[in-house]
Amino acid sequence: MKIAIIAGDGIGSEIIEQGKKVLRTVAHKYNFDFEHKDVLLGGSAIDEKGVPLPEETVEICKESDAVLLGAVGGPKWDKLPGNLRPEAGLLGIRKALGVFANLRPAILFPELAGSSNLKSEVLGNGLDIMIVRELIGGAYFGDKNRIDIEGGKKAWDTIAYTSFEIDRIARKSFEIARKRNKKITLVDKANVLESSKLWREVVEKISTEYEDVEINYMYVDNAAMQLIRDPRQFDVILTENMFGDILSDEASMLTGSLGMLPSASVRGDSFGLYEPVHGSAPDIAGQDKANPIGTIMSAAMMLKYSFNMTAAAENIKNAVSQVLKEGYRTLDIASEGTKVVGTEEMGDIICKGV
Ligand code: IPM
Ligand code: MG
Repeated sequence: MKIAIIAGDGIGSEIIEQGKKVLRTVAHKYNFDFEHKDVLLGGSAIDEKGVPLPEETVEICKESDAVLLGAVGGPKWDKLPGNLRPEAGLLGIRKALGVFANLRPAILFPELAGSSNLKSEVLGNGLDIMIVRELIGGAYFGDKNRIDIEGGKKAWDTIAYTSFEIDRIARKSFEIARKRNKKITLVDKANVLESSKLWREVVEKISTEYEDVEINYMYVDNAAMQLIRDPRQFDVILTENMFGDILSDEASMLTGSLGMLPSASVRGDSFGLYEPVHGSAPDIAGQDKANPIGTIMSAAMMLKYSFNMTAAAENIKNAVSQVLKEGYRTLDIASEGTKVVGTEEMGDIICKGV
């Protein structure tokens, strides 16, 4: 197993260290070998190589079976032009690897119900939503520019999707829904946007091939509200890039903390790019305060999706669950009566539970 590792910026190196530690522990237990290469992306790549996405990074990631990524970005690079910012590196590597489907599960560990902003009666006995976000199209990749006009400026971004791009992610979502509760909600803005109308048309057509899966359509403004009002109505949420970016941050808060959530970006073969949903949190970087669970769970997703090692992945998830049951918490999920630990200690305790 060849894994490329991108620590990135801010808390990136601290959380990636814990991810690696957990991988080493399960590798020992399940008797497998993995070879890893550390590569640069984002701000750290700008500092060392002058660009957010060095060619070498793309090559090594492409030669690997999977990529584990921490987070990129920070105030130090905020003033750079858009194409030289750390975020451009992140968008660029996703695009270069062709990972079009970003799976963002929002799962509530029962132990963290108290950290959710929602009342317990809304959460019921848990939450398990899978957001499938299109990752390499739409506004973040469409034609964009800025020009001077008389007396001011004009800037634009374009949301463009082909039927092929919608088709492949829709099929992926139906396959995923089949293994879950067989319900998809397509989130769009088809009452206004032409691109959304195409999404609906394509998804509707494909849905006839998956009659065992229930399909629903919802406007994104309503979906943002429904996620808070009654999140348990959702099973799989399928949506375009920008809506998925926004709704996945919202969904993460339902589960207690953005720090908990992993993601997998896949494309149809076994390759995948795995990263926590949260960002680089420069305000707490280097202080041993970050929650490593999003990264550790991303490593678990990697074992499951890229290497078909379901037992090892379950083992990690159970270890996290156990540690939470025992009352260990990083600051972001701490509450009265729990034991607050740092990033590194959280990693160590989870390893012990594996
Ligand atoms: C995310 C992040 C990125 C995105 C940013 C940092 C470019 O918000 O992974 O959700 O929008 O995809
Ligand atoms: Mg985001």
